[in-house]
Amino acid sequence: MSNESTINKPTGLPPGPRMPRAVQSAIWYRNAQWLMDQSQARFGDMFTLKIANEGTWVITSDPDTIKQVFTGDPRLLHAGEANRILLPVLGPDSVLLLDDAPHLRQRKLMLPAFHGQRMQRYGALMADVAAQEIERWPLGEPYPLRPRMQAMTLEIVLRAVFGVSEGPRMEELRRELRGMMDTVTDPFKGIAMLVLGADRITRIPAFRRELERINGPIYAEIAERRTATDLAERDDIMSLLLQAQHEDGSPMSDSELRDELLTLLVAGHETTANALSWAVERLCRHPERMERLTEEVRAGEDAYLQATIQETLRLRPVISIVLRKLQEPMELGGRLLPAGASIVPSIHLVHRRADIYPEPDEFRPERFLESEGGKDWGPTRPYTWIPFGGGIRRCLGAAFAQFEMEVVLRELLLRRTLAPTRPESERNYRRAITETPRHDAEVVIGRSATSTPTRCPVAHTVVPQPQVEAEAVPV
Ligand code: HEM
Repeated sequence: MSNESTINKPTGLPPGPRMPRAVQSAIWYRNAQWLMDQSQARFGDMFTLKIANEGTWVITSDPDTIKQVFTGDPRLLHAGEANRILLPVLGPDSVLLLDDAPHLRQRKLMLPAFHGQRMQRYGALMADVAAQEIERWPLGEPYPLRPRMQAMTLEIVLRAVFGVSEGPRMEELRRELRGMMDTVTDPFKGIAMLVLGADRITRIPAFRRELERINGPIYAEIAERRTATDLAERDDIMSLLLQAQHEDGSPMSDSELRDELLTLLVAGHETTANALSWAVERLCRHPERMERLTEEVRAGEDAYLQATIQETLRLRPVISIVLRKLQEPMELGGRLLPAGASIVPSIHLVHRRADIYPEPDEFRPERFLESEGGKDWGPTRPYTWIPFGGGIRRCLGAAFAQFEMEVVLRELLLRRTLAPTRPESERNYRRAITETPRHDAEVVIGRSATSTPTRCPVAHTVVPQPQVEAEAVPV
């Protein structure tokens, strides 16, 4: 790698906190965003953290460096390897865990199911699930919304993935998935998993039994669906994947399907539930914005709703970082970094840059409205709004998640009023790798006085997604 362009570049890791690895790790698991804020204030846009047995992380919040990472050669920047801790649950064929050509192969098979245009088809089921769930929420008493948002998003993704959600098999799967999510998001069990590492977790008998209970219904559903004669007419993701073919014409194997279906179920519900909870938490602390949004939603408008979602994901990203492990020494951000380190774009830090987002700590959806001058940043200025990561690893469910958030918030605001149970903002609480509101977005719910709860007009637009074509990347 020593060519002319790297000769005068500083080599090695940038500076970072001098605390021992164990102390840095403990602070990270308790409050990752705080540790990043403090380190950036002291060391600037690029600094080094040392986290448990995750290796060495070079965190960056510079959009140009983030661009280098997201557009860099994926053979040298491994994301799958960096996600290895998820292997025991998701399995070796999970798109989240693969790198290089195998990753692109799986991703290509899955992309059509998440194309923006297809999202419209999921609109009716999303609205149905949301309406039923919201109607069950109690009125006039403190009620933490996050667990209910999680039940709602699990239901939505189950139906989108399998096309069904009733019956004993789905009931079993729902129950076991909830149990598994409770295990992996429990802060103490989560730390234990990280300390043990993927290989040792896989050998724990209790863990294997738990996994078997999830695998049983998934494999049974795959076997039954393989014999279905109406696959081509079905809209669900599983049916699409069953018809998908590798380049040599072979179909996906049962274990490939199992790993991808479980990946979608796991990656696709807690994240969105947290993002919805944050949207409610922020709106409740800004009644004037809640009012504007409610009025626009009643008028059938989309723009402020989409801006609210973008601003929520900017200010309260549910995932704070993404990781890429360097396979060779690489020049990034003007510094030659060693092989084996991970380069880590900080979603949290880049979203709080005052040079990109004036008054970055303010919740101001207007900043994303083109009509109010907001077109020079965010999704339209690349690498400054990255709640879904980027490049060929960008979240496959980004359009699905944003569309789902729109549908759910619309149903909620048409039917109910929401007031916070405490005036102060809820702080961050870290559940394994996602950030949630400390008090689970606790609110007091009222019945909306002026609206008749009408079904949302599902003809709204899907937020345009950056074009990331797997084919465009050389592997
Ligand atoms: C607000 C909700 C969500 C957020 C904030 C989110 C965020 C992310 C992030 C940060 C990544 C890593 C990207 C990178 O490494 O550059 C990711 C990957 C992924 N997400 Fe999401 N996600 C959300 C919802 C969903 C949903 C609903 C699904 C599916 C139904 C999904 C499926 C995936 C998959 C399959 C990947 C792996 C992509 C790959 O490695 O090629 N996510 N997501």
